[in-house]
Amino acid sequence: MTHYPSIRKNLARRLPDGLILLSGGNPVPRNHDVDFVFRQKSDFLYLTGVEEPGCYLLIDPKRGREMLFLPRIDNHHRVWLGDVPGPREARSLYGVAEAHYTDELPRLLKAGMGGYRTLYADPEAAKKAGSSRLKVAAGALRDALDELRICKTPGELEHMKRANDISGKAHREVMRRTRPGMYEYQIQSIFEFECMKAGLKHLGYPSIVAAGRNGAVLHYHANSAQLKNGEFLLIDAGAECKGYSADITRTFPANGKFSSRQRDIYSVVLDAQKSCIDRARPGVISADLHVHSMTVIAQGLKELGILKGDVTGLVEGGAVRLFYPHGLTHTLGLDVHDTLGGRRRKLPNPTKVPVRFVARLEPGFVITMEPGVYFIDALLKDPELRRKHKGSVDFAKAESFLSLGGVRIEDDIVVRPHGPPLNLTTVPKEIADVEAACAR
Ligand code: GLY
Ligand code: MN
Ligand code: MN
Repeated sequence: MTHYPSIRKNLARRLPDGLILLSGGNPVPRNHDVDFVFRQKSDFLYLTGVEEPGCYLLIDPKRGREMLFLPRIDNHHRVWLGDVPGPREARSLYGVAEAHYTDELPRLLKAGMGGYRTLYADPEAAKKAGSSRLKVAAGALRDALDELRICKTPGELEHMKRANDISGKAHREVMRRTRPGMYEYQIQSIFEFECMKAGLKHLGYPSIVAAGRNGAVLHYHANSAQLKNGEFLLIDAGAECKGYSADITRTFPANGKFSSRQRDIYSVVLDAQKSCIDRARPGVISADLHVHSMTVIAQGLKELGILKGDVTGLVEGGAVRLFYPHGLTHTLGLDVHDTLGGRRRKLPNPTKVPVRFVARLEPGFVITMEPGVYFIDALLKDPELRRKHKGSVDFAKAESFLSLGGVRIEDDIVVRPHGPPLNLTTVPKEIADVEAACAR
């Protein structure tokens, strides 16, 4: 609870000239009488830690007031869904000075308008506020929240560390208990059981559990195939702590021992990942790191005879993207693909390759490092790509790796003021350590 008041003060300092009104979320119906599992809006979690639906937050920066609004529930709600905290309980539970029912929001909003011309509100909150003489500024609120959310405070880092520690332990259990013959969803259940057992009830994103060729589907979600002896298992999974997610990927052999082909491809990805982690320091531009990862991977695939020619040409001409068609990194936090920072942080891409996340790294950024190498049927058999890259790719050799699927290794790191980053992820990734973790 402790870090939320200081986060609210930071927001009030950024937007001192208007009232600030945010909505939490409301349950989304799935079908008759059944809702999807409720997930609070990330901005609301960021500012309050409140996980209940139907809430609002009003901040009056000039008068230093903060008001949490909670739904006034009736007995029908109590009978079917149970009780929820009322204002008195909420004050101590959530550490807010003032708490009210949401039906009091219009009155208290009107009372607080004196001296303001602007209402910083998200669209749903603006709708709730109704028409007034205040001018609604949703974009400026979004920008302020994005700017703040990208640098994590020590309180937020504690949640991120716990999400990583527990998810990491679950990944180690997956390595220890996976056997050829298991179905992907059975392996998924090991991960999710371990996270829940340790106290984290929610995942940051649907688990990707991919056997063999399925590892080449970047956001694979069927999780229904059977793992065979000799295949790789790629698992990309992370739990949430107070809404803060871990995002961890490991790739390991189903039978616990790397074959020489698995070892070759895995080593290229591991080298790229370690080299990028070491370089993730303040001032570095994320797009340059991505290009560095492409360079290490292009060099590695060239040494294996899969790519041919000058490494810079393989990167800038796009041949390496046939095998590594996604970003190296994204920010991580309350959203697994977290805020990219406000407008101030957006830079032009200084590289010759397309990259979505272009920011100068700052202390407190939490980002993933997740290079990969994949053998993707759709790309390797695409006639136009084959024509374009025929001088750079040994397609016959590349196709001989199709059954390997893909390798991704993903850790979550915190950029520090000096030196290399803090790696939150402690799951084995060196070949010897992975084999030891899989020992049976
Ligand atoms: N788990 C999704 C990603 O790695 O970005
Ligand atoms: Mn990721
Ligand atoms: Mn991931």
